Amino acid sequence: MSAAMTLEDKAVLVTGANRGIGKALVEEALARGAKRVHAGTRQAMAHPDPRVTPLVLDVTDPDQVQAAASRVESLDVLINNAGVMLPDDSLDPAVHERHLAVNLYGSNAMTQAFLPALIDSRGTVINLLSCVALAPLPMFTSYSASKAAAFSLTKTLRAAHAARGVGFHAVLAGPIDTDMTRELDIPKTSPAAAARAIFGAVDNGIEDIFPDPATAPLAEAWAAGPDKILERQFARLVPAADPAI
Ligand SMILES: NC(=O)c1ccc[n+]([C@@H]2O[C@H](COP(=O)([O-])OP(=O)(O)OC[C@H]3O[C@@H](n4cnc5c(N)ncnc54)[C@H](OP(=O)(O)O)[C@@H]3O)[C@@H](O)[C@H]2O)c1
Repeated sequence: MSAAMTLEDKAVLVTGANRGIGKALVEEALARGAKRVHAGTRQAMAHPDPRVTPLVLDVTDPDQVQAAASRVESLDVLINNAGVMLPDDSLDPAVHERHLAVNLYGSNAMTQAFLPALIDSRGTVINLLSCVALAPLPMFTSYSASKAAAFSLTKTLRAAHAARGVGFHAVLAGPIDTDMTRELDIPKTSPAAAARAIFGAVDNGIEDIFPDPATAPLAEAWAAGPDKILERQFARLVPAADPAI
């Protein structure tokens, strides 16, 4: 468990905010009383709610990431939602690179750029991962690998920054009904329902979030499983944070 948090009066940044789960997270953050939602999108967009500040932001572009970090004065919640999923059953290097560029390095670049602001606010990072971080999906080899790597990094950052009061949440979602899963003929959860479940879990201090009916039954076993036992053991090896930082 991490510290409980609500969105009331908080400043939030969502990447990939123009469609799918990102768009639903923007609307849910507004509904929960966020005072400011920075909506990161690759193409300029407008939003009718004055609390929304559009940010042109490709997470693979270091200049745009730095410009966003300079523009946003304070931040309580960073949501690394932007992601790509391309079919790939043979680990084609070009496809693998693209998955890593967005899903791993892009998210990490955002986290590193906003970490000073998040340390100041004792803030929260929510990383949109996937249940394929736990078990790879056949035919989506490099997508699964990128999400597994991003989950590993999320857990490292969680341990490294806990003493500074920054919480890291991993969303291990199953199928959500967006453009990303359009071709998959399987039961899916609506993005709005997933967004409600994600913020509800963060409100309750849940670190690893299973926000849909397909994955929710895993939550109890996961919280008591060998991965969490090892994660907690390894977290104790992190040196205490320098109080001057
Ligand atoms: N849908 C699911 O079943 C599911 C399940 C588990 C996890 N997830 C994860 O949830 C997140 C959102 O997925 P989704 O289903 O909402 O996907 P989606 O509908 O395909 O939307 C993807 C979003 O990411 C943005 N994006 C892609 N590359 C980007 C980049 N380089 N910089 C900034 N933004 C970028 C897209 O912007 P453009 O419109 O400009 O392309 C779009 O806004 C992803 O990380 C995904 O892996 C999804």
